[in-house]
Amino acid sequence: MGDSSGISVTDETLQRSEAAHRTPPGKRPAGTEIRSTYGVTIRQGISLKYRNEEHKMAIKKVVEHPAKVLSTPCAEVKEINEEIITLLDDLYDTMVEYDGVGIAAPQINVGLRVAIVELGEERDILEMINPTVIETDGAEVDIEGCLSFPGLYGEVERPDYVKIEACDREGRVYELEAGGFDARAILHEIDHLDGVLFDSKIKRILTEEELEAMYAEEEE
Ligand code: CO
Repeated sequence: MGDSSGISVTDETLQRSEAAHRTPPGKRPAGTEIRSTYGVTIRQGISLKYRNEEHKMAIKKVVEHPAKVLSTPCAEVKEINEEIITLLDDLYDTMVEYDGVGIAAPQINVGLRVAIVELGEERDILEMINPTVIETDGAEVDIEGCLSFPGLYGEVERPDYVKIEACDREGRVYELEAGGFDARAILHEIDHLDGVLFDSKIKRILTEEELEAMYAEEEE
């Protein structure tokens, strides 16, 4: 990144592909500790239980499809103020409560270009304000879900590499490259900000049997 854009964030661990954590968006393992190594946001060593006991939670109701706010492109954030910081915190608390691996502002009824996503095996939290996709490459079909579509999982083709530019909560512009499932999760959330929902991209919906097998695998 050049001088004008602030910090640059890249991490080779983001570029792993097949060994990626395979839990689809919409599900995350309970009790996972969350740490960040990207200098974006650090919520070190916070487990679900700890947060529930020690922190005032701001859990919002997740908007389910169909809803106008989900299919409307979001407005750019003009200024990072308390409202935006609170929005980021609300998104985090709500994502944890609903066991998601990513969530976008319209999913809690806020039409702004703000989303968060868990990245990598460490489940780091990436905060994205006004994210834009700079580059994509490759293609991969994998299973996706969405908090706004409870119980719906399907095969979706997405690029398996993405480079984005976004703002963090301190207003610093960063650039980030991600691969595999992380790229998928980032692109899924940025789609939300454009009013695009994953059901429009599903090539094949998982059967009841496949869903049961997936849930059983997660419990092991
Ligand atoms: Co979603």
